[in-house]
Amino acid sequence: MDTSNLKDCLDSLFERFMAESSIFINKDVLSHDFIPEVLPHREKEIFRLASILAPSLKGEKCSNLFIYGKTGTGKTAVSKYVLARLEKKSLKLQGRVKVCYVNCRLAGTEYRVTASLCSALSLQIPFTGLSTAEVLNRLFKRLSQLGVYLVVVLDEVDELVKGYGDRLLYELTRSNSLLSKGKISLVGISNDLYFKELLDPRVLSSLSEEEIVFKPYTASQIKDILLQRAKMAFKPGSLPLSTLNLCAALAASEHGDARRALDLLRVAGEIAEREGATKVEERHVHEAQRKIEHDRTVEVLASLPLHSKILLAVLYFNGKPKLKGLTTGELYEGYVSLCRKAQVEPLTHRRVSGLLSELDMLGVVEARLVSLGRYGRTKKIQLKIPKKTLEKAFLEDVYFASLTENGELA
Ligand SMILES: Nc1ncnc2c1ncn2[C@@H]1O[C@H](COP(=O)(O)OP(=O)(O)O)[C@@H](O)[C@H]1O
Ligand SMILES: [Mg+2]
Repeated sequence: MDTSNLKDCLDSLFERFMAESSIFINKDVLSHDFIPEVLPHREKEIFRLASILAPSLKGEKCSNLFIYGKTGTGKTAVSKYVLARLEKKSLKLQGRVKVCYVNCRLAGTEYRVTASLCSALSLQIPFTGLSTAEVLNRLFKRLSQLGVYLVVVLDEVDELVKGYGDRLLYELTRSNSLLSKGKISLVGISNDLYFKELLDPRVLSSLSEEEIVFKPYTASQIKDILLQRAKMAFKPGSLPLSTLNLCAALAASEHGDARRALDLLRVAGEIAEREGATKVEERHVHEAQRKIEHDRTVEVLASLPLHSKILLAVLYFNGKPKLKGLTTGELYEGYVSLCRKAQVEPLTHRRVSGLLSELDMLGVVEARLVSLGRYGRTKKIQLKIPKKTLEKAFLEDVYFASLTENGELA
């Protein structure tokens, strides 16, 4: 392309970009962190959470609380909503309650989570250099000095515990007995329903003095949620009701996930817009679904640990498609030999089983029990995603790509 041509291209690209959208009025309201003024179908949960936290306004100890439910059931939205209102109310009443919301997955480490709690009390902590224990000390000291009530929401707390164990939760739950003045209440949120099994019984019992379970939304509830957003996001007439219904139905058939529904709506709108269409049609939704699924899988695969990738490579290179997968024994054998070729120390059979169940849960592989007649039963494992998707994800992993180059590992 010569330069003048490129210039024309860019000009028209910018112009198209600047031109008024044919579809959206305000796409931002479809983004993940937008929280609307009203959260339909979560009135009960909002009320329950607010009632549990309300005693803090009078300085009375409120119960710790554990919230769980699948992704996209409104846990984050509801807790941020209630926290914001609690903070507002507290400011009117001399600010005796401080609130702090931390997403543990994004914060990443115990240290950073603890530092965020400090910053809710306007206590600055250096990025590095202190031990987590020292940061906690400073937090408790500050809390006693101020004599305030700190309400903490630890969102996606399962990610913290999976990485670091439940030590921080333990310290926080027992802090009230150590503090002379000031109090802490914890709200832990988890997308993982089995997370409780990872907790020490003492931590579990103090964290789950109260529990709220967020159930998946039904198709008609998701429809209401979408209708509310669509009014703000789309130009009048650009989103037929049948398109919106399809998004709600697809998201509900998965697991009642409002985030998925909003994503479908947004991506379908973007696809329609890029086509220059004036309406978002059902086919745009189907295309959006394929795009989201593909992007999600590539992302999940790319972030897997090396040993899981090696397992997938064994399944990928398995030349016996007709046999429908490998037995656990065959898979382990293949895994060990790939590890040898890659000069990586293989993990034990047990650890590999653990990785396999994780891959199964992610929907990347499928493990089925098959009968061997009078020889009993065995598990057969096969890939559940297209080989193309796997190739794309692994090519982005430089280390892995170099191992698999020219099928060297096969
Ligand atoms: N009842 C609701 N009303 C309006 N929007 C909602 C509702 N529940 C969830 N959402 C929206 O759906 C998306 C996912 O919700 P979120 O609270 O992040 O779910 P979770 O934390 O349970 O994974 C967010 O964009 C949120 O604003
Ligand atoms: Mg969340």
